[in-house]
Amino acid sequence: MNDDPAHRLIPLSAPQAAADARGRPLADLRISVMDRCNFRCPYCMPRATFGDNYRFLATAERLSFDEIVRLARRFAALGVRKIRLTGGEPLLRSGLADLVGELSAIDGIADLALTTNGVLLAQHAAELAANGLKRVTVSLDTLDPGTFRRMSGGFDGLERVLDGIRAAAEAGLAPIKVNAVIQRGVNDHQALEMARYFRGSAVVLRFIEYMDVGSRNDWQPSLVVPSRELRDAISALHPLVPVAGGYRGEVAERYAYADGGGEIGFISSVSQPFCGDCTRARLSSDGVLYTCLFATGGMDLRAPLRSGVTDEELSQLIRSTWRRREDRYSELRQPPGAERPLRKVEMYYIGG
Ligand SMILES: C[S@@+](CC[C@H](N)C(=O)[O-])C[C@H]1O[C@@H](n2cnc3c(N)ncnc32)[C@H](O)[C@@H]1O
Ligand code: SF4
Repeated sequence: MNDDPAHRLIPLSAPQAAADARGRPLADLRISVMDRCNFRCPYCMPRATFGDNYRFLATAERLSFDEIVRLARRFAALGVRKIRLTGGEPLLRSGLADLVGELSAIDGIADLALTTNGVLLAQHAAELAANGLKRVTVSLDTLDPGTFRRMSGGFDGLERVLDGIRAAAEAGLAPIKVNAVIQRGVNDHQALEMARYFRGSAVVLRFIEYMDVGSRNDWQPSLVVPSRELRDAISALHPLVPVAGGYRGEVAERYAYADGGGEIGFISSVSQPFCGDCTRARLSSDGVLYTCLFATGGMDLRAPLRSGVTDEELSQLIRSTWRRREDRYSELRQPPGAERPLRKVEMYYIGG
């Protein structure tokens, strides 16, 4: 059964939904509200590239809240039902709860979620929930403080992240999902402990295969731990049964513990690509529309937005960009005939 509120209210085949060149509707929008981050996870923002001299966007280059809301309304009119705020670290954007309040009031937006590294979540959870945030996904790759420091690029904060998860639960931001990127030889030996820790709680842990996003994380196939391997190891200790159904565009393969210990998920963008059902558009913090996480280019919406176009003209731009969309990078990885590696957009910039 499809239990996602965004997909319960309005069928994706609603007449206004824009479809891409492969027939995939535009249903989800991820908005990066901040390109900066308070971590330097080596798989995302390696310190060697994103050091003290790295030039992030200036405040005026980022979309203002008014601009984000105006665009979000256009996306909603074209079929978007679900918005996820991300980054960089979205909780570094001051006043984020005000933006949440405005986005949650948009007609047609049935689901509003946030992805965060969780360090600042405890202090913001209640206000975000009060302003209309429905759910939160917290990124946490390990429960071991030393590995945490390594995987965050040298920062402590494990306890603060766990506090953030507790605060989110108390604020009613449910279901809480925890995303863990697993890398061979880095934290794969701790995956079972994570599964054990969250088993039986209201938190749904999801293991993510380390992806070749961007061009700066020195991705190697040998560092990927296929979801199948983790699922088999967990299932050997605590038998798992697949959760049937889901909705079009759902990225995680969902399993339930057979003894009623809750749910666990696997996101397998490398070993089992899911491009065929991808209904997601992504908006960078400076207003570029990307139609794929692995895109090499996007459509600038900020310039037209700031040069006085009408709402209908904005809708046209979004619709025509989506209609041309053919992306299925994860299914192809390197396109046939491509000689050099693609220069892909970085994940911190368009969000996860
Ligand atoms: C780019 S972050 C942005 C939001 C926030 N800073 C956070 O970490 O949740 C979004 C998600 O992307 C994931 N991510 C970043 N780089 C990745 C990679 N190379 N492979 C798989 N997941 C990645 C992170 O673990 C996180 O769950
Ligand atoms: S994964 Fe999130 S927390 Fe880590 S560097 Fe990237 S944006 Fe920051």
